[in-house]
Amino acid sequence: MARAEELSAQLAHHGELYYDLDAPEIPDADYDAMMRELVDLEGEYPQLVTEDSPTQRVGGAASATFAPVKHRVRMMSLDNAFDADELRAWAERAAKGLTLGDEAPEVAYTGELKIDGLAISILYENGVMTQAATRGDGRTGEDVTANIATLETVPTELTGKAPALLEVRGEVYLPIEKFNELNAQMEALGKPRYANPRNTAAGSLRQKDAAATASRGLSWWCYQLGEIEGGPNLQRHSETLEYLGSLGLPINPEHRVFTGPGAIDEVVAFNEHWKDRRHDLPYEIDGVVTKVDALAQQNELGSTSRAPRWAIAFKLPPEEKTTLLRDIMVNVGRTGRATPFAVLEPVFVGGSTVSMATLHNEDQVAAKDVRPGDTVVVRKAGDVIPEVVGPVLSERPKGLRKWKFPTSCPACGTTLVRPDGEANTACVNDACPSRVAARIEHFVSRGAMDVEGFGERTVRQFLELGLLSDVADIYAITAEDLSAIEGFGEVSITNLLGAIEVSRERPLASLLVGLDIRHVGPSTAEALATTFGHLDQIAEASEEAIAAVEGLGATIATSVHEFFQSASTQALVEKLRAAGVNLEGPEVLDIPKTLEGKSVVVTGSLDAFTRESVVEAIKARGGKSPGSVSKKTTAVVVGESPGASKTAKAEEVGVPVINEAQFVHLLETGELPDA
Ligand code: IVH
Repeated sequence: MARAEELSAQLAHHGELYYDLDAPEIPDADYDAMMRELVDLEGEYPQLVTEDSPTQRVGGAASATFAPVKHRVRMMSLDNAFDADELRAWAERAAKGLTLGDEAPEVAYTGELKIDGLAISILYENGVMTQAATRGDGRTGEDVTANIATLETVPTELTGKAPALLEVRGEVYLPIEKFNELNAQMEALGKPRYANPRNTAAGSLRQKDAAATASRGLSWWCYQLGEIEGGPNLQRHSETLEYLGSLGLPINPEHRVFTGPGAIDEVVAFNEHWKDRRHDLPYEIDGVVTKVDALAQQNELGSTSRAPRWAIAFKLPPEEKTTLLRDIMVNVGRTGRATPFAVLEPVFVGGSTVSMATLHNEDQVAAKDVRPGDTVVVRKAGDVIPEVVGPVLSERPKGLRKWKFPTSCPACGTTLVRPDGEANTACVNDACPSRVAARIEHFVSRGAMDVEGFGERTVRQFLELGLLSDVADIYAITAEDLSAIEGFGEVSITNLLGAIEVSRERPLASLLVGLDIRHVGPSTAEALATTFGHLDQIAEASEEAIAAVEGLGATIATSVHEFFQSASTQALVEKLRAAGVNLEGPEVLDIPKTLEGKSVVVTGSLDAFTRESVVEAIKARGGKSPGSVSKKTTAVVVGESPGASKTAKAEEVGVPVINEAQFVHLLETGELPDA
């Protein structure tokens, strides 16, 4: 089903940003909502569950910087409840799972804080810490022993009578105070602030140099036993926590045990308590965790593929604060879109100080009716993107005027245009200084020509001096120009000129991204560059020829074609050519289309191909490589450790199963081996 595929792709993308790169782009709440939608869809249509569905994964994959560590016991995730009803429903399911005959057992629960940091597993052998690892994908994490050993709250030796082997889990976090100190330092250095304590903790832990980790002031709470050998006979989770504490491991003091017939009501009250009190804590929490206390009951309930049935996380809604709305201003971006934003009295919310928040467009401001001078409610949607919720009307000063969207561009004075039926207002002046600045910033940015050291500030300084009127002008900048600018010394001049020089040789796809053609992102740029092989070939291509490129369509084709038809683009291309910027793409290989109309599914790993290169090889020959086997599949290629479901399905529907050598023959000739 298309929706499930779309959700899977988005969750995989955002999961990677969050878990592997510590750089989320969307609020956690949006991620959670997508995950729930996919879980629900898969519940309804079990045939949609694939082995690599994000619902079957626990988190991020291990990176290449740290050695991989295979977890002795899998590190699971937690399922979420978003309100008291969902929590009660979970408790009922658990009770049902434990019922023998008619007799419902009594269930006791523990309540613990859900610390917003990152999960770590630490191994102690005969009381001595021998290994620490991140969660990774739950099965394999990263070896961060040296970094973890620098944390003051992690004992390298246990106290008391230590068991022969102990593997414990806990959450590494950055206390809010340390986070603020770090950001004050960043600000003093003129560097960008860190977004929130969680991502900063993750980044701080994954430093190649353990001394850098040590300087950040990370801390740790231990919340779960992984494995134990030669320890006491533990019956309850609460007992386990006390025992771990007795060994000198830091156990969060805010944990409780709830027993008796009203236990679940007390759990709900405990959760509500922390919803209101989360800010009294010197660290961030993103929820409260309830666990079934008796270990025998936990065993009986077991786990799904990603989370235990005996535990549930009560997610806390994003926190809200009030502050003064000083002003509403309008920013004009490179496409000309005029976006209103709130200028706020700085307020600490969701783990960082917020002084600006987007208001999206004219209608949003009108709907919220926020006015400069208002006290407004601010929240971090999912703890990433600050948002103005609305005004506190009881605090509105008398006579405060409704805010009006400007009729002319704040940067160039051109009349702003809002097409009928559209929500966005735009400055249509192509030469608007705000648009030019944004275009140049985009051109030199990392995803495009990647000119290191050419930041927003530098772009604005050059513009003010009249040194830049379009992106090609950066190639005319001289050492003399730079020496006239404050803050540019010999070293920074050499560095910047070097970076500009290097960017002349960037691949054609980077240049295409940098030119900021509507609808052309990195993958479209790549497809254009590899198909046409030269910027001139793209510029001369017909709309039909562009639309025929694999993965592109009519909309992109029209936009690319129009872009290159314009006189200003043509002038810019000539300027770039004269500046010696690379316009050539990779050599266009003439691969015979042996797999036209065929579809080949690959399962398991092959010797001569990676997962990506095998799909490329099939596509380059005109074939398709879907993720699942159907009657229409031409062949299933089976490599090392294949997925059982794909081979079984192939046999069931009578699709030929071939090995790697036969696959290579198929690629070359389009022929299957004789049956
Ligand atoms: S128990 C098998 N307890 O939340 C159960 N997790 O969203 C494992 N977390 O991966 C988790 N505080 O990183 C547990 N008191 C707590 C926790 C906690 C924070 C994190 C942990 C886990 C994630 C799941």
